[in-house]
Parts: sequence; structure tokens; C-alpha cells
Amino acid sequence: MNSELENLYRDLIIDHSKNPRNFHSIADASHSATGHNPLCGDNLKIFIKLDGDKITDIAFVGDGCAISKASASLLTEIVKGKTVEEFLRIYDEFHEIATGEGEIPENYGKLKVLAGVRNYPARVKCATLAWHTVDAALKGQNSAKTE
Ligand code: FES
Repeated sequence: MNSELENLYRDLIIDHSKNPRNFHSIADASHSATGHNPLCGDNLKIFIKLDGDKITDIAFVGDGCAISKASASLLTEIVKGKTVEEFLRIYDEFHEIATGEGEIPENYGKLKVLAGVRNYPARVKCATLAWHTVDAALKGQNSAKTE
């Protein structure tokens, strides 16, 4: 990673972990699930409101490292207003990129910075925890573990 990207990476992670967006519960959520990283014990809970196929609201609470919190925060910003199908496409692509299998697209925006975890294999689970948890919630499961 060049130093410009490293700075961007650090600033974005710090910003979203210190001031997480959509960091609250949703009392009338239609879907929710808890994500657990067994390696560190960190937990987060995702709340989703689905209207038909559209994710009209999404939020999270919980305790986690800076990367897991920043990832959850970015995810909620990106996914709010999207359809389930669009979420699944973004999730698949992000998972491939974060685990180092896919090319990082030029126009990958903020997720490009988060995908930088591929250079730190121990942190991949931190970055993908919230994504697995949203996927589990949408499938009607109430918990997800990083694999
Ligand atoms: Fe626990 Fe990152 S160290 S999720």
C-alpha cells in the first residue's frame, strides 16, 4: 500500500470507528442478527428494516475493534436504500476483494480503503464480520460467525 492510501485508510477507519454512522438499535426492525468473532470475542448486532425487497433502514450496536466498527459503519451507509439483491452483489464482491481473490475496481470508493485489510490477513475477519451478519439476518438466521 502506498503511503497516501495508508493515510486514507487510517483516517477513514478512525473516523468511522470513533463516530460510527447508524450506531443504534431499531425497535421495529424486521430482521436482526448477532455477529461474533470467536477469535477475539467481539460482538455486534445488526438491525434491518425491509420494505418488500428494499433495505429501508439498517443500523448496528456492539463492541468491536476499530476495523470491525468502521466496516459496519461503512456497510450501513452503503447498503441503506439498496435491494437485497444489490446487497448480495456488493457483499460477494467485497468478500472476494477483502480476502485477496478479486481485483480491486478503480471506482471502488470508500470500500477500496477497507479492502486494504487483504494485506493484513488477521484483520480480514474484522472487516467482514458485519457483512456476514447482515447476510445471516436477511436469511432469517439470528447469528453469524466469521468463518
Ligand atoms: Fe475483534 Fe477485530 S479484533 S473483530
